[in-house]
Amino acid sequence: MAYGSEHIEMPPVKDWVNDWDWLDDGWGENAIDIWNDVREQCPVASTERYGRAFMPVTMAAIRDIANDTDHFSSIWVNVGRPDAPRSPAPPITSDPPDHLGHRKLILPAFNPKAVAEIEQEMRDYCRDLIKDLDGLNEADAAVQYSQHIPVHGICILTGLPEGDADLFRDWIYKNFQLAPRDNNVRIEVMTEMTHYIDAILKDRLVNPKDDLLTMIANAEIDGKEVDWNIKIGYIRLQIVAGIDTTWSAIGSGLWHFAQHNDEVQRLIAVSNDDMLWQTANEEILRYYAPVTMARKVVKDVTVQGCPMHEGDQTLVTFPAANHDPEAFEDAHIFKLDRENNRHVAFGLGIHRCAGSNLARLEMLVAFQEWLRAFPNYSLNPNKKTTWANGQVRGPRILPVLLNR
Ligand code: HEM
Repeated sequence: MAYGSEHIEMPPVKDWVNDWDWLDDGWGENAIDIWNDVREQCPVASTERYGRAFMPVTMAAIRDIANDTDHFSSIWVNVGRPDAPRSPAPPITSDPPDHLGHRKLILPAFNPKAVAEIEQEMRDYCRDLIKDLDGLNEADAAVQYSQHIPVHGICILTGLPEGDADLFRDWIYKNFQLAPRDNNVRIEVMTEMTHYIDAILKDRLVNPKDDLLTMIANAEIDGKEVDWNIKIGYIRLQIVAGIDTTWSAIGSGLWHFAQHNDEVQRLIAVSNDDMLWQTANEEILRYYAPVTMARKVVKDVTVQGCPMHEGDQTLVTFPAANHDPEAFEDAHIFKLDRENNRHVAFGLGIHRCAGSNLARLEMLVAFQEWLRAFPNYSLNPNKKTTWANGQVRGPRILPVLLNR
């Protein structure tokens, strides 16, 4: 593959074992079938589309990679053009020993207590979104509901202005759907985000508030001021990690429940604090895990028999591991009350998701409010659901009939 031009076109994938591509039009809707088919043939697929890059599909291979920071670096967390410019977004892009200091700095903002405090606010917000659908018989459950909920949560917890939600979603779309194949888009998004965050952090230096932005603007690690570019990276990460991830999980759950009214009826028959809601939330995370990460191979290594060389890239396909029959009983079946559910939707090892408490709360509240408001909703048979491809997979257009 030559990388002369800024944008690279790719033909449709015909062979997912030797030529996979997470930006292929077939990925978003069919990824689970793709991973299951590949797993029957080998534990690790490969491609040459972005230089050499691998796609592991078994829990064993995913564990090997996620737990091995000697051979796999997080300096590249997205499989894309190998000549792509990359910018830091710690802690997700950091390796040991730097990683821990960055992680400790941001973790308190998302601890269980901080998150529990916003539950009522999130519930009221979901109810307001549902109220906006008054009088309608059909709706788009992604555009009119799921995409808004995580922006609200992130803005409360960080201090980012919610009025800029469209801007955040535009950056997310370009970053994940276009940038892996187009360096100009990557540079454009990086530059716009840098200018935006630089201005907001500078403002917090002179107008401090009780929020994460102010804490980051003044951040120190071990008594030493954090580099300004790294501070910008922390906030860049909040925007790209905290929004379309949960938006996708909520959307996938609503897509699923629209087709399984028996499960909706079981859920709404019990109180909001019944364990069934918790197990349902976890099963959505297992079955429809939205986030696939990546690593750069920094030393030659063999994973489950597959040799990888320094400079190669690999996905860390957490969602595929969640469907491995070696790791889960009846992995192919969605079980509302699955008890043993050690899924890896939030990752494994030192980079395990820092926002998992927030994501779980937002999902739970979003499902409870929607399913109780529209207990008989269904997919709209006359309109098509569309799915985002690539790193964060989930419905972006989700037409439903509300069947009040
Ligand atoms: C359902 C929603 C979410 C899913 C499935 C998810 C998934 C993940 C995964 C798989 C990782 C591991 C990255 C790696 O191994 O390279 C991760 C890391 C991370 N996530 Fe999430 N995430 C979600 C929501 C959120 C939210 C709401 C936030 C809040 C800002 C967030 C913040 C982070 C951060 C900061 C990291 C990096 C942690 C580190 O490197 O130490 N995530 N997430």
